[in-house]
Order: sequence, then structure tokens, then C-alpha cells
Amino acid sequence: MVAREPGTTPFQIDLRRHLRENEEDRDLTRVICEIATASRYVIHSIRTGELGVAGTSNLYGEEQLALDVLSDRILRKRLVHSGVVSSIASEESSEILSVNLTGKYAVVYDPLDGSSLVDVNLAVGTIVGIYRGEDILQRGRNLVAALYILYGPRCTLVYSTGNGVHEFAMNALMEYTLVQENIRMKPSGTIYSPGGQRNKYTPGVEKLVQALEAKGSKLRYSGGFVPDINQILIKGQGLFLYPHLQDKPEGKLRLLYELNPMAFLIEQAGGAASNGRERILDIDPKAIDHREPVFIGSKEDVAMAEKFVQEFG
Ligand code: AHG
Ligand code: MN
Ligand code: MN
Ligand code: MN
Repeated sequence: MVAREPGTTPFQIDLRRHLRENEEDRDLTRVICEIATASRYVIHSIRTGELGVAGTSNLYGEEQLALDVLSDRILRKRLVHSGVVSSIASEESSEILSVNLTGKYAVVYDPLDGSSLVDVNLAVGTIVGIYRGEDILQRGRNLVAALYILYGPRCTLVYSTGNGVHEFAMNALMEYTLVQENIRMKPSGTIYSPGGQRNKYTPGVEKLVQALEAKGSKLRYSGGFVPDINQILIKGQGLFLYPHLQDKPEGKLRLLYELNPMAFLIEQAGGAASNGRERILDIDPKAIDHREPVFIGSKEDVAMAEKFVQEFG
């Protein structure tokens, strides 16, 4: 970390300057800044765009909203514009897009996570993972950067390039300025965020939830992966779970563009992320639509989840 002049206040540090201080790879900085630029168009379309359906479905059979398709186009356009992206995989397109054979980075993203929450005005987000090379199906352990943008009452951006996790907020000029850097997680939490239907929980997951409640953890769940994870990261404690269910043994969330980027960020902050048996970042992606159960957040809470799942299923 470059020494700053005494008296420098966080809001004087914008995203570009912070990346310059933290990351010597200028091309990686360029990709992250293009994503930040894209988020300005996404936030504008969320706030003013139409809320209807696009009339199409994605690889997961989810009905695509106009905002899903628009956000996907915005992200893709800015990544192509960067000139250094080799290939792209998006939740909203059914195959990998080869962009530039001489590109340095393979990018995976969920352009608008929680999009079905926009019409009820709940917080939504964009999730991005960045790999070196052109291979999209890499383990999360190989990520060189991950970030998310949270479109809530404030628009915030959280990133890591492997040197800690840092939070920025969009100011009145739509610039991202530093809020806090090197966010750290406590080993055990007091909140939990349980996805999926409770009556579909397996015995192990049911026992986990009862143990979390017994230790005093409070339920905090919005249905949006980005705000739910952001709450745990910024509070520095807690457990998010979208577990294996009796009728969905692989859970719901996608390894490539939801779980790996968030697992990278949470582990960078000193937390953990598991599918109940192994670390999310160590899983070999089988295909772009690979799903995994997830237990992510404070290390001791994740270890407790693994114990119940391995003992009781
Ligand atoms: P997306 O909108 O990108 O398809 O993702 C929605 C996901 C994620 O945001 C959240 O954790 C999960 O869906 C919530 O699922 P349930 O509605 O089943 O709780
Ligand atoms: Mn979706
Ligand atoms: Mn999503
Ligand atoms: Mn999505």
C-alpha cells in the first residue's frame, strides 16, 4: 500500500487511484474501471427503465426481464471496449462469448442479480469475477479479481485484487470514492441469511439453523444475494446459506458468476465459503450452469455448517 499524504480523507481516494496504489497491472485496473463505468448506466436503467419482461428465457429457464438483458448488454459493451478481455460468460447468455483472441482476461458476471426484486424496490446488484487467460471454466481459486456493485439506497462497489477487500460509494458526481479498506470478518456471527424453503431443508441444514438460532443469531434475508452477502461482509460477521434442498440437491446459486466471486471476496476478508463438503473456490466447474449449495461468511459458522451437513446430510 502506497503511503498517503497525512490528512488524506477517504473521499479523496477514488476507485482509479486506489487501484493504482494497490494493483500494478494497468490492464486489470482498466477492466475494473470499465465495469464501474457500466454500473453508472445500469443504475440509470434501474431507476428510469421499464420493468417489463424481455419475452425470452435464459439458460436456467428463468424469464428474462428487460433489465436483465439491458444490463447484460451494457456490461458486455464496456468489457469489449476495454480491449483486454478475451472471453465472457454471463448468466444471461447461454454460451461463452469469445471477444478478443489477444485479450488478457476472461470475465464471468451476473449482470443483475436479484432482478425480480426491482419491481418491489428492493436492493439488487452486479457480480463479476476476473481470470487471467481465456479459459472461463477455471476454479475460483484462480480468480485475479472479484467485485460487486450494490444498487441500494446508496450505490456501493466492493472489490479485491487479492490485496484485501475495499468498499467505495458513488458520490453526487457518480464517482466511486473510498469508504473503507481491508475489511475483515470476525470468526463467528450473530446474523444468518437462509435461502430456499425451510420445509425442504435436509436434517443437517435444519439442525444447523436450530444451532444458529440457539447461539442467538438473528435471521436477516432479503432474497437478493448481493445485499445479503454485503450485509455480512460490511458488518464483518454472519452466515449466508442457500443449501442443498430435498428437491434440489445442488441448491440454486451458480458457481461461476455468483458463488466464486463472492467466495473470493469473503475469503480475502478472512471468512470462508463451502458447499458443505469442500471450499467453493476449490471446486472444478463442470459447465457454465454449474450450481452448488453454499454456506458462506464467518469461518466458525461455516465450519459448523460443514459439521452438521457431513454428519446429518
Ligand atoms: P438472479 O436474480 O441473478 O437470478 O439471482 C437470484 C438469486 C439470488 O439473488 C438470491 O440469493 C436467490 O436467487 C434467492 O432465491 P429465492 O428466491 O429462492 O430465495
Ligand atoms: Mn436470474
Ligand atoms: Mn444471480
Ligand atoms: Mn441475475
